[in-house]
Amino acid sequence: MKKRYTFALTLAAVAAMGAIGHGSFKPAVAQQSENWKPVWTADGQLQLPTGYREWVYLGSPLTPNALNGGAAGFPEYHNVYMHPEVYAIYKETKTFPEGTILLKELQLTLEAQEDDGSRSEVSGRGFFPGAYNGIDIAVKDSSRFADSQNWGYFNFGHHAPPYAQTAAAAPTEACASCHIDNADEDMVFTRFYAILGAE
Ligand code: HEC
Repeated sequence: MKKRYTFALTLAAVAAMGAIGHGSFKPAVAQQSENWKPVWTADGQLQLPTGYREWVYLGSPLTPNALNGGAAGFPEYHNVYMHPEVYAIYKETKTFPEGTILLKELQLTLEAQEDDGSRSEVSGRGFFPGAYNGIDIAVKDSSRFADSQNWGYFNFGHHAPPYAQTAAAAPTEACASCHIDNADEDMVFTRFYAILGAE
C-alpha cells in the first residue's frame, strides 16, 4: 500500500515538472528574468544567444557596395537587436546595464538590377532585404573588458547561417578601438537607434 502511495506522489511530481517545462508554472517565469545575461563557456567564449530575432529591434544601418566603391566592409543591412528586458532597463535608467548584449545580424540586399545596386519592386526602386549573412555582438561587462571601456566584441561569422555557436573576444584594434573613437554613448552608435531616445 505504502509503495503505491509513493508511486502516485512521484507521478504528481513528474507532472508538475512537466508544467514547469511548458512555462505554465509561475517560478519558471521568475527564472526567465536572467535569460538576457550573456552565457560564457569555461574558456571565456561567448555563446550565441537564441531567439534574438524576436528581441527589440533598434534599427538597420545600410552601407551598400555600390555606394562604397563596390566593396563595402559590410554591404548588408545591419539589423540591431537588444533583449526586451535590457530595453526596459535602458528606458528606465538611460544606461546600458552590466551584461547588455547588442546583437547585429547582417542581411543581404536582394540582387541588384541597376549600377547603383538598386532594384525595382512594386513599391518603387530601392534596396530590399534578402538573406541573413552574419552576426556581430557587443557585450558590456566591466570585469572582463575593463581595458576596452567595458565592452567586448565578437564575430560569429560573416556568411549565411548556420553561424558559429561560440566566439572569442576580438582584439581591441579589430573592433573596440573604432567604437571608442566614434560612438555616441557608452560605446554604442545610439544616433542610429531612434527607439532608444523615443518617448
Ligand atoms: C571602423 C569602425 C568600426 C569597427 C572597426 C567596428 N565597428 Fe561596430 N559599428 C561601427 C558603426 C559606425 C556602427 C553603427 C553603424 C553601422 O552599423 O553601420 C557599428 C555598430 C556595431 C554594433 C551595433 C551596436 C552599436 O554599437 O551601435 C555592433 C554589435 C558592432 N558594431 C560590433 C562590432 C564588432 C564585433 C566589430 C569587430 C569585428 C566591430 N563592430 C568593428 C563602427 C565600427
